[in-house]
Amino acid sequence: MPRKNIKDKIKESLEEEEDQVSDMDKIELDDDKEPEKEEVEEEQEPEEQEQPEEQEQVEEEPETSEDETPKEESEYKEEKEETPAQEEPQYMEPALLASYSFSSEGIPVDVKIMKKDDFVPTYEITIPGIDEWTKKMLEKSLKAELVSEVNLDISEILDPKKFNDVKKKFLATGKSILKREFPNLSDANIEILAVYLLQNTLGLGELENLRSDDELEEIAINSSKENVWVYHKKFGWCKTNLIVKEESVTYDYASMVARKIGRQINVLTPMLDAHLPNGDRVNATLSPVSHFGNTITIRKFARNPWTITNFIKSRTVSSELSALVWLCIQNELSLVVSGGTGSGKTSFLNALAGLIPANQRIVSIEDTRELTLPSFLHWVPMVVREANPEGKGEVKMLDLMVNALRQRPDRILVGEVRRKEEAEILFEAMHTGHSVYATLHADNSEQTISRLTNPPIDLPEGMLDALAGIVVQFRHRRFNIRRTLEFSEVMKGGKLNTVYRWDVKSDKIKATAKLLRLHELLSLYAGMSEREISSDVEEKRDVLDWMVKHGHEEVDDVGRIISHYYMDPDEVLKYVKKDQPWVFNR
Ligand SMILES: Nc1ncnc2c1ncn2[C@@H]1O[C@H](COP(=O)(O)OP(=O)(O)O)[C@@H](O)[C@H]1O
Ligand SMILES: [Mg+2]
Repeated sequence: MPRKNIKDKIKESLEEEEDQVSDMDKIELDDDKEPEKEEVEEEQEPEEQEQPEEQEQVEEEPETSEDETPKEESEYKEEKEETPAQEEPQYMEPALLASYSFSSEGIPVDVKIMKKDDFVPTYEITIPGIDEWTKKMLEKSLKAELVSEVNLDISEILDPKKFNDVKKKFLATGKSILKREFPNLSDANIEILAVYLLQNTLGLGELENLRSDDELEEIAINSSKENVWVYHKKFGWCKTNLIVKEESVTYDYASMVARKIGRQINVLTPMLDAHLPNGDRVNATLSPVSHFGNTITIRKFARNPWTITNFIKSRTVSSELSALVWLCIQNELSLVVSGGTGSGKTSFLNALAGLIPANQRIVSIEDTRELTLPSFLHWVPMVVREANPEGKGEVKMLDLMVNALRQRPDRILVGEVRRKEEAEILFEAMHTGHSVYATLHADNSEQTISRLTNPPIDLPEGMLDALAGIVVQFRHRRFNIRRTLEFSEVMKGGKLNTVYRWDVKSDKIKATAKLLRLHELLSLYAGMSEREISSDVEEKRDVLDWMVKHGHEEVDDVGRIISHYYMDPDEVLKYVKKDQPWVFNR
């Protein structure tokens, strides 16, 4: 750790502040007392979602997950009930809900989520290599030294094209300053401190570490008087042990984000909505518009996009139904993914998109960027834009759809269809030979048709037969699981033939009817007989099962295998038959 000469110098200046030092220090002390419940707790945790490995636990014990789902809540209740009964002391043993570590741009970070004497869990983030005074020292003296030594003018720092170069320059200079000041520090430690310094100079300070936690969906600063909040995928809103020191810090972060996209946030325009280069979306508001203080809300872009393998592995969908959907996609049939809010529609759309052949042009249109396709696909992601403060420059879904058709797409992906005009354009596009994959808010296939054919969307029934099928996603709140509820073929005049449906008792997706429309379409366009369709579905099912078995679930890995399959199915089937993992980078 850093040497004394500087330490002494700085210690003096820090001593006055010592008492306000930190919630963090206190929290670290609390950590020592923790009960060692960690593993048991972790396993019993009802599965909220996301991490495919974790999802397996739900699968293996569906009944327990039913019992356990409400457990999180009931645990809180028990604790709350006990509190008034206890006379003295009022102190409650903190319970460790989860703990994990990850790397934030090379900095090792530890997280503990605890249930303390509060209504919400606490999310405690620590960097094991950096203690509080080191942080202060870095922020107090070295940060200024770094900025003056790198000596770039502000336009260079703000130019997004030069950002990576600027970052490298800062990192290199930071390292040399640290080496000079602390000659005895190991290279590994210098590296960590340099990244920390960089995050505090060019980035959003300690929020950067929160941005690197894949378990978080949202990060929110409400004011400098309140700890930073995070929305954890499993535990919902949690209070962190971080706090911005002054309102001006939040303001500085907000204006840094604004300037990078050529905007401003100030008294006259006190609100900002912006995308960071990695897709995270930042909203900022300034006091007094936000009464308690300046706010920042970061909605994180999903770093681990969903793939069809994830879905099969987590038993959201069966491999058999996935194989049928894959066959539809291969043959350019259009599909709608329906479901309620948060049922996993967009995630399913993402998984489907990974099955599109690499030689086809894809244009996607979204309100907020959520989709991530294999990196080598021929893909143009487009996103709407809000009007600027003068009310100019708005780009709507509809504008993008009209424009998309001029980009010669083979496939069009649409985040969510809500309005009449959007639906009209989409069905026109289907009728003119594009294949379209869109999500729509509806609880089942029938509701999907009824939403499409009644006001406000109000499409004529005759238009619907451009659509081949509807996949419905569904979230079972009590079991806390997500499943494909049904898959229906769309027949003439918008009638439905539901061919697969989830069975609640067995938690399986079962075939409920023979294929009619798909059979007709596939025989018409691909010349496939009934037998050929079923053997193709079986073959694809085997490929999918094999991918699940061998853990090929990353978006690019899945995409590569699918693309190889399109080019040379026998090559892929050789591996499937031998039951061996795919060899990438061939
Ligand atoms: N099959 C699944 N299992 C677990 N979590 C899922 C599943 N599908 C989606 N999720 C998660 O659920 C949340 C909502 O998913 P999203 O696709 O955005 O829903 P929708 O588009 O229906 O509102 C996301 O955090 C996503 O990661
Ligand atoms: Mg969605």
